[in-house]
Amino acid sequence: MHRRAFLPLIVTPALAQYEESKGDVPWVPTPDEVMNTLFRMAGVTPRDTVYDLGSGDGRVLIYAAKHFGARGVGIEIEGHRVLEARAAAKKAGVSRRVKFIEQDLFKADIRPATVVFMYLYTAVMAKLKPKLMSDLKPGTRVVAYQFNGLRDWKPDRVDNTHPYPAYLWTIPTRQA
Ligand SMILES: C[S@@+](CC[C@H](N)C(=O)[O-])C[C@H]1O[C@@H](n2cnc3c(N)ncnc32)[C@H](O)[C@@H]1O
Repeated sequence: MHRRAFLPLIVTPALAQYEESKGDVPWVPTPDEVMNTLFRMAGVTPRDTVYDLGSGDGRVLIYAAKHFGARGVGIEIEGHRVLEARAAAKKAGVSRRVKFIEQDLFKADIRPATVVFMYLYTAVMAKLKPKLMSDLKPGTRVVAYQFNGLRDWKPDRVDNTHPYPAYLWTIPTRQA
Protein backbone atom coordinates (compact mmCIF):
# COMPACT_ATOMS: atom_id res chain seq x y z
CA MET A 1 0.00 0.00 0.00
CA HIS A 2 1.24 3.53 -0.57
CA ARG A 3 3.02 4.99 2.46
CA ARG A 4 0.55 7.89 2.58
CA ALA A 5 -2.38 5.48 2.64
CA PHE A 6 -0.85 2.77 4.82
CA LEU A 7 0.36 4.86 7.77
CA PRO A 8 -3.10 6.10 8.85
CA LEU A 9 -4.24 2.50 9.03
CA ILE A 10 -1.76 2.03 11.86
CA VAL A 11 -2.07 5.22 13.87
CA THR A 12 -5.46 6.90 13.35
CA PRO A 13 -9.12 6.00 13.97
CA ALA A 14 -8.97 4.00 10.75
CA LEU A 15 -7.29 1.36 12.93
CA ALA A 16 -10.63 0.67 14.56
CA GLN A 17 -12.05 -0.03 11.12
CA TYR A 18 -9.16 -2.40 10.45
CA GLU A 19 -9.68 -4.25 13.74
CA GLU A 20 -13.32 -4.80 12.84
CA SER A 21 -12.37 -6.11 9.40
CA LYS A 22 -13.12 -9.77 8.74
CA GLY A 23 -10.25 -10.07 6.31
CA ASP A 24 -6.52 -10.69 6.37
CA VAL A 25 -5.64 -7.37 4.68
CA PRO A 26 -7.21 -3.90 5.03
CA TRP A 27 -8.79 -2.21 2.04
CA VAL A 28 -6.39 0.03 0.13
CA PRO A 29 -7.14 0.60 -3.57
CA THR A 30 -4.68 0.00 -6.40
CA PRO A 31 -4.04 3.20 -8.42
CA ASP A 32 -5.31 3.19 -12.04
CA GLU A 33 -1.83 3.54 -13.52
CA VAL A 34 -0.64 0.47 -11.60
CA MET A 35 -3.59 -1.58 -12.85
CA ASN A 36 -2.74 -0.47 -16.36
CA THR A 37 0.86 -1.65 -15.98
CA LEU A 38 -0.16 -4.99 -14.46
CA PHE A 39 -2.76 -5.73 -17.14
CA ARG A 40 -0.32 -4.80 -19.90
CA MET A 41 2.34 -7.04 -18.34
CA ALA A 42 -0.19 -9.89 -18.29
CA GLY A 43 -1.31 -9.13 -21.86
CA VAL A 44 -4.98 -9.04 -20.83
CA THR A 45 -7.48 -9.27 -23.72
CA PRO A 46 -11.28 -9.68 -24.04
CA ARG A 47 -10.70 -13.46 -23.97
CA ASP A 48 -9.50 -13.27 -20.35
CA THR A 49 -11.31 -13.83 -17.09
CA VAL A 50 -9.58 -11.87 -14.35
CA TYR A 51 -10.03 -12.93 -10.71
CA ASP A 52 -9.32 -10.23 -8.13
CA LEU A 53 -8.64 -11.96 -4.80
CA GLY A 54 -9.80 -9.37 -2.27
CA SER A 55 -11.67 -7.19 -4.74
CA GLY A 56 -12.50 -4.24 -2.45
CA ASP A 57 -14.69 -1.66 -4.17
CA GLY A 58 -14.40 -3.45 -7.53
CA ARG A 59 -12.23 -0.90 -9.30
CA VAL A 60 -9.69 -3.44 -10.59
CA LEU A 61 -12.22 -5.53 -12.50
CA ILE A 62 -14.18 -2.50 -13.65
CA TYR A 63 -10.92 -1.13 -15.07
CA ALA A 64 -10.10 -4.48 -16.72
CA ALA A 65 -13.56 -4.63 -18.30
CA LYS A 66 -13.61 -1.01 -19.47
CA HIS A 67 -10.05 -0.72 -20.78
CA PHE A 68 -9.15 -4.30 -21.74
CA GLY A 69 -12.58 -5.83 -22.43
CA ALA A 70 -11.98 -8.63 -19.92
CA ARG A 71 -14.51 -10.50 -17.83
CA GLY A 72 -13.97 -10.47 -14.09
CA VAL A 73 -14.80 -12.24 -10.87
CA GLY A 74 -14.10 -10.50 -7.59
CA ILE A 75 -13.82 -12.36 -4.30
CA GLU A 76 -14.28 -10.14 -1.26
CA ILE A 77 -14.90 -10.99 2.39
CA GLU A 78 -16.49 -7.66 3.36
CA GLY A 79 -20.15 -7.64 2.35
CA HIS A 80 -20.40 -3.85 2.19
CA ARG A 81 -17.51 -3.72 -0.30
CA VAL A 82 -19.25 -6.31 -2.48
CA LEU A 83 -22.37 -4.14 -2.58
CA GLU A 84 -20.24 -1.10 -3.37
CA ALA A 85 -18.47 -2.97 -6.17
CA ARG A 86 -21.73 -4.19 -7.73
CA ALA A 87 -23.13 -0.65 -7.69
CA ALA A 88 -19.91 0.75 -9.22
CA ALA A 89 -19.95 -1.90 -11.98
CA LYS A 90 -23.55 -1.03 -12.79
CA LYS A 91 -22.72 2.68 -12.90
CA ALA A 92 -19.74 1.96 -15.18
CA GLY A 93 -21.94 -0.12 -17.49
CA VAL A 94 -19.93 -3.34 -17.07
CA SER A 95 -22.14 -5.38 -14.73
CA ARG A 96 -22.69 -8.00 -17.45
CA ARG A 97 -18.94 -8.64 -17.62
CA VAL A 98 -17.98 -8.61 -13.93
CA LYS A 99 -19.39 -10.25 -10.82
CA PHE A 100 -18.53 -9.95 -7.16
CA ILE A 101 -18.83 -12.77 -4.65
CA GLU A 102 -18.84 -12.34 -0.87
CA GLN A 103 -16.43 -15.07 0.19
CA ASP A 104 -13.12 -15.84 1.88
CA LEU A 105 -10.56 -15.92 -0.92
CA PHE A 106 -9.01 -19.11 0.52
CA LYS A 107 -12.32 -20.92 -0.09
CA ALA A 108 -13.04 -19.51 -3.56
CA ASP A 109 -13.19 -21.59 -6.73
CA ILE A 110 -10.52 -19.84 -8.79
CA ARG A 111 -10.12 -22.56 -11.46
CA PRO A 112 -11.80 -20.59 -14.29
CA ALA A 113 -9.32 -17.71 -13.98
CA THR A 114 -6.93 -16.92 -16.82
CA VAL A 115 -5.48 -13.98 -14.88
CA VAL A 116 -5.29 -13.56 -11.09
CA PHE A 117 -4.81 -10.13 -9.52
CA MET A 118 -3.64 -9.69 -5.93
CA TYR A 119 -2.98 -6.70 -3.73
CA LEU A 120 -2.40 -8.66 -0.54
CA TYR A 121 0.19 -8.87 2.22
CA THR A 122 3.27 -11.05 1.77
CA ALA A 123 2.14 -13.62 4.37
CA VAL A 124 -1.31 -13.92 2.79
CA MET A 125 0.22 -14.48 -0.67
CA ALA A 126 2.59 -17.09 0.77
CA LYS A 127 -0.35 -18.93 2.35
CA LEU A 128 -2.24 -18.72 -0.96
CA LYS A 129 0.59 -20.04 -3.12
CA PRO A 130 -0.24 -23.79 -2.82
CA LYS A 131 -3.83 -23.03 -3.91
CA LEU A 132 -2.62 -20.99 -6.89
CA MET A 133 -0.31 -23.82 -7.91
CA SER A 134 -2.89 -26.58 -7.52
CA ASP A 135 -6.05 -24.84 -8.79
CA LEU A 136 -4.91 -22.63 -11.68
CA LYS A 137 -4.34 -23.89 -15.20
CA PRO A 138 -0.79 -23.83 -16.58
CA GLY A 139 -0.32 -20.56 -18.44
CA THR A 140 -2.55 -18.56 -16.07
CA ARG A 141 -0.93 -15.20 -15.36
CA VAL A 142 -0.68 -14.00 -11.77
CA VAL A 143 -0.05 -10.31 -11.05
CA ALA A 144 0.55 -8.49 -7.77
CA TYR A 145 1.43 -5.01 -6.57
CA GLN A 146 3.89 -4.02 -3.85
CA PHE A 147 4.12 -7.31 -1.94
CA ASN A 148 5.91 -10.43 -3.13
CA GLY A 149 4.83 -13.40 -1.08
CA LEU A 150 5.85 -15.88 -3.78
CA ARG A 151 9.55 -15.37 -3.16
CA ASP A 152 10.78 -18.84 -4.10
CA TRP A 153 8.91 -18.53 -7.42
CA LYS A 154 10.84 -16.19 -9.68
CA PRO A 155 8.61 -13.60 -11.39
CA ASP A 156 8.65 -13.46 -15.20
CA ARG A 157 8.73 -9.67 -14.98
CA VAL A 158 9.07 -6.94 -12.37
CA ASP A 159 8.11 -3.35 -13.23
CA ASN A 160 9.63 -0.63 -11.08
CA THR A 161 8.01 2.46 -12.58
CA HIS A 162 5.54 2.97 -9.69
CA PRO A 163 6.19 3.65 -5.98
CA TYR A 164 6.27 -0.13 -5.40
CA PRO A 165 7.10 -3.07 -7.67
CA ALA A 166 4.52 -4.69 -9.95
CA TYR A 167 5.03 -8.46 -10.42
CA LEU A 168 4.03 -10.99 -13.08
CA TRP A 169 4.26 -14.77 -12.75
CA THR A 170 2.92 -17.54 -15.01
CA ILE A 171 1.62 -20.87 -13.67
CA PRO A 172 4.06 -23.49 -14.93
CA THR A 173 3.26 -26.73 -16.69
CA ARG A 174 2.74 -29.49 -14.12
CA GLN A 175 5.35 -32.25 -13.97
CA ALA A 176 3.90 -35.72 -14.69
C1 LIG B 1 -5.47 -4.06 -0.30
S1 LIG B 1 -7.18 -4.28 -0.63
C2 LIG B 1 -7.16 -4.48 -2.42
C3 LIG B 1 -8.48 -4.14 -3.08
C4 LIG B 1 -8.48 -4.27 -4.59
N1 LIG B 1 -8.02 -5.60 -5.00
C5 LIG B 1 -7.58 -3.23 -5.22
O1 LIG B 1 -6.43 -3.61 -5.56
O2 LIG B 1 -7.98 -2.07 -5.33
C6 LIG B 1 -7.43 -5.97 -0.04
C7 LIG B 1 -8.87 -6.41 -0.03
O3 LIG B 1 -8.90 -7.78 0.32
C8 LIG B 1 -10.01 -8.02 1.17
N2 LIG B 1 -9.71 -9.24 1.93
C9 LIG B 1 -8.84 -9.38 2.95
N3 LIG B 1 -8.80 -10.65 3.38
C10 LIG B 1 -9.67 -11.34 2.60
C11 LIG B 1 -10.07 -12.69 2.55
N4 LIG B 1 -9.57 -13.62 3.39
N5 LIG B 1 -10.96 -13.08 1.61
C12 LIG B 1 -11.49 -12.16 0.75
N6 LIG B 1 -11.17 -10.85 0.76
C13 LIG B 1 -10.25 -10.44 1.67
C14 LIG B 1 -10.11 -6.76 2.00
O4 LIG B 1 -11.40 -6.62 2.59
C15 LIG B 1 -9.77 -5.69 0.98
O5 LIG B 1 -10.91 -5.21 0.32
